[in-house]
Amino acid sequence: MRVTGLRLVNFRNYPSLSLRPDAGLCVLTGENAAGKTNVLEALFLCSLGRSHRTVRDSEMVRKGEPAGSVAVDMDTRSGPRRIECKLFSGDRKKMFIDGAPLSRSGELLGCLNVVMFAPEDLALIKDGPGERRRFLDMAISQLRPSYYYTLQQYNAALKQRNALLKEPEGLDYDALECWDEQLSVLGAAIVLARAELVEHMGAIAAEQHETLSDGAETLVAAYEPNVEPSDRESLAKTLRLALADTAERDVYRGSTSVGPHRDDLKLVINGSDVRVYGSQGQQRTTVLSLKLAQLEILRAEKEDSPVLLLDDVFSELDRNRQKMLLIAAQDCQTFLTCTHIEEVAAAGVEQMQVYQVADRSVVEL
Ligand SMILES: Nc1ncnc2c1ncn2[C@@H]1O[C@H](COP(=O)(O)OP(=O)(O)O)[C@@H](O)[C@H]1O
Ligand SMILES: [Mg+2]
Repeated sequence: MRVTGLRLVNFRNYPSLSLRPDAGLCVLTGENAAGKTNVLEALFLCSLGRSHRTVRDSEMVRKGEPAGSVAVDMDTRSGPRRIECKLFSGDRKKMFIDGAPLSRSGELLGCLNVVMFAPEDLALIKDGPGERRRFLDMAISQLRPSYYYTLQQYNAALKQRNALLKEPEGLDYDALECWDEQLSVLGAAIVLARAELVEHMGAIAAEQHETLSDGAETLVAAYEPNVEPSDRESLAKTLRLALADTAERDVYRGSTSVGPHRDDLKLVINGSDVRVYGSQGQQRTTVLSLKLAQLEILRAEKEDSPVLLLDDVFSELDRNRQKMLLIAAQDCQTFLTCTHIEEVAAAGVEQMQVYQVADRSVVEL
């Protein structure tokens, strides 16, 4: 798939902007704070229904304006599509596909598939398990929107159970059983989907990582559930028992201590945990390997290449990694931001469309 048009109105620093990107590599270059990332953010927003850097949608409306919007036109295997997002400074955003408002947020998933690689992605390694769960959840949701709904239901049930645990009149065991039943069935589906993705993604990421490190490093990605996965039915039973077992302790803690909302993704290079022992370079390469694997899986399963968003990552990579990235990007439309265009040219790119970003506008060079 490819983006054929992007239109911003009162989005971040842009009063108005219109781009007609080419199919291949599209480079956005400009000084710091010129508005390069803002363009990628707009594309990410139309892909996943949220910003990659803020949870407050209103932040994306140009300061002093009541509303803003993003519209993305694209070509997909099933024909042209248009995704629009209307943002408001004092209200919830509204999204539309081909002019029709979304009835559920999950409807958006899979329409415009993007893989983003940005400096903040290092949080995937450095931060807590929540970041890694989010990464897996987003990757699976793009592949299978039904997973997103399962996750939503799980989170809603979890919220209810946690509220129940805090009831001052004591624990309502009948209600607890009802939530435990839901959590165990939904939870089993989540654990198995994540474990399956990690197995698939881990194998591809390991290959990528081996090439990126010239054979010096072996990356192993393993899903770490707090309840051992087995087949779906037994896993649901095990989760159910674990929930019952920990109920008393959970009352004391005021939260639910077992289930996929406590799982993690373990990343190990040559036997050592990347999070604890990895150098900055190894951590960065690990993220790159995972993202390239995500790209590969999306491409294969959707039979349509996703759009690649590379924010400020080029200059951080050595020549070998830059080349690998460009090879992976070859048949994907790619938006790349950088401050120095010479670096991209030096990596041997022959054809690219270059946009200069400055003064709240973007000019094609
Ligand atoms: N809601 C907003 N309204 C107006 N300007 C904004 C808004 N949010 C961010 N900006 C401006 O956008 C610029 C940062 O854009 P960004 O895309 O992150 O820059 P970079 O080119 O470094 O990637 C800053 O100048 C910032 O003041
Ligand atoms: Mg930036």
